[in-house]
Amino acid sequence: MCGAPGSGKGTQRDRIVEKYHLAHLSTGDLLRQEIATGSELGKLLDSFISKGNLVPDDVIIDILAKHIDSLDADCAGVIFDGFPRNVAQAEALEKMLAERNEATSVLLDLQVEHDELITRLLNRGKVQHRSDDNIDTIKQRLVVYEEKTRPVNDFYKNINKYQAVDGMGTMEEIFERIDSILKQF
Ligand code: AP5
Ligand code: MG
Repeated sequence: MCGAPGSGKGTQRDRIVEKYHLAHLSTGDLLRQEIATGSELGKLLDSFISKGNLVPDDVIIDILAKHIDSLDADCAGVIFDGFPRNVAQAEALEKMLAERNEATSVLLDLQVEHDELITRLLNRGKVQHRSDDNIDTIKQRLVVYEEKTRPVNDFYKNINKYQAVDGMGTMEEIFERIDSILKQF
């Protein structure tokens, strides 16, 4: 599940997990859990996140390697939310799965207009107090998305695993669009 900050990745992931009984792995959630422990590693991670920059790839690949084999072996599949975040991570994911005789099925790209992204994130900032939901950091997250994450779409287009999803509208409408794609799998 890919898309810009605020595109609804986490929201739709929860719905997909509930309907299809998938395991899920969200690098953003795992990083925030580490920050919440107050550890030295957490402080280092927050120094990237609160500025809107990506955490270095080696840290992320380490997290992935640690969690991928502890996912429920009987689940129908796995949904990755907010990962891969750049082409190097996409390559690492594909390699790690191939080594386990597994493969990705599809990249869902949630497409949401720029102003709507900012509105959603500022609204969430009022209630959830994430260190990156302030206007300066949101702007930087959007720049990083364009530079680093958007090219991941081409990576999956090239291997015929890309599906765009209109991410504008109600959460229910968007879920129906995703559901009609996932039914094929
Ligand atoms: P991450 O946690 O992945 O955050 P993000 O990509 O910035 O996206 P968000 O979680 O903010 O938004 P979302 O798309 O999940 O939308 P949501 O459903 O919450 O990453 C955070 C940071 O961690 C990164 O900047 C980076 O520093 C680091 N990081 C994470 N993964 C990394 C990686 N792989 N490599 C390197 N660094 C990494 O929705 C947003 C809001 O809108 C919510 O309040 C929701 O209720 C609302 N909403 C959702 N849908 C709708 C709708 N249809 N209409 C109205 N409101 C809606
Ligand atoms: Mg999220």
